[in-house]
Amino acid sequence: MIKEIKKIGVLTSGGDAPGMNAAIRAVVRSCAFYDIECVGIYRGFQGLVEGDFKVLGPRDVNYIINKGGTVLKSARSEGFRTAEGRKAAHAHLLENGIQALIIIGGDGSFTGGLLFNKEFGFPVMGIPGTIDNDIHGTSHTIGFDTALNTVVEAVDKIRDTASSHKRLFFIEVMGRDAGHIALNAGIGSGAEEIIIPEENMGMDRLLASLKKSKASGKSSSIVIVAEGEKLGKNVFELGDYVEKNLPEYDVRVSVLGHMQRGGAPSCFDRVLASRLGVKAVDSIVEGKSNYMVGLLNDQVALTPLSKAVKGHTGIDQELLRVSDIITI
Ligand code: F6P
Repeated sequence: MIKEIKKIGVLTSGGDAPGMNAAIRAVVRSCAFYDIECVGIYRGFQGLVEGDFKVLGPRDVNYIINKGGTVLKSARSEGFRTAEGRKAAHAHLLENGIQALIIIGGDGSFTGGLLFNKEFGFPVMGIPGTIDNDIHGTSHTIGFDTALNTVVEAVDKIRDTASSHKRLFFIEVMGRDAGHIALNAGIGSGAEEIIIPEENMGMDRLLASLKKSKASGKSSSIVIVAEGEKLGKNVFELGDYVEKNLPEYDVRVSVLGHMQRGGAPSCFDRVLASRLGVKAVDSIVEGKSNYMVGLLNDQVALTPLSKAVKGHTGIDQELLRVSDIITI
């Protein structure tokens, strides 16, 4: 028999992402819809370890759907990595009568949730929130679309100065382990080359391609480089290397950095976060645990958390082909 759920906890963990607030809002209001008390847990797993909780009602999440960051804050918790920390976290949940936990975050956050479930049998549900889009079981993570728009806007601006000065720009974008931001934003901004960890381009191919580009009449060029892949060099060394080997180019380097994680979420991310937040609460009410809610073929769908953390999304081969064809 399914135990009636009366109290759910929600936290945001890992790197923040635009749209996390929209997800929090959807969770809080879905709880109200079911007459379930919703408890906000501050600073991710660290707040769980310390019992930093606050009951949230529908009016507590007014006007946050449009805000970047996370009102619940986020942290990388050392405490939760220890057995004592997790024990304390479990005790706080029991003391407060919380019966299930919704974790809005990425890979590392879900791994923490799984471990917690394994140790204490505590029900957990994941909502994918990370700009990197590197989680299996969803075509889009919350924040990815907004980050892409931020990157494209920045690259458009850099393109203006690049073309005025006939320069070659290396632009580093986020994505520690994945090239989804680089590939999508690269196509969207018309980059001449896109360097991602999933594809080993090799230095020789890069030089040959840039040479060809120059010979074809291009006066300026943009190379988008994913943070996780620099062909064995940091992006500044990469720029130096190319300038040394292709003196016909005047090279500049730009690292976009954490601005990619901020800003108001796009409409797509707000709608996605709202759908996933509602589905997470629906699923807990139905007695489900250890799943991640995601978007598959434009439908909300559940994937076992263990699969979500293990299988990284591969890079879209069709996008690679499109990029190869249109950068000629
Ligand atoms: O949010 C994901 C991510 O943006 C990665 O691409 C990046 O490597 C990482 O976060 C950096 O996060 P932080 O500076 O918070 O450690």
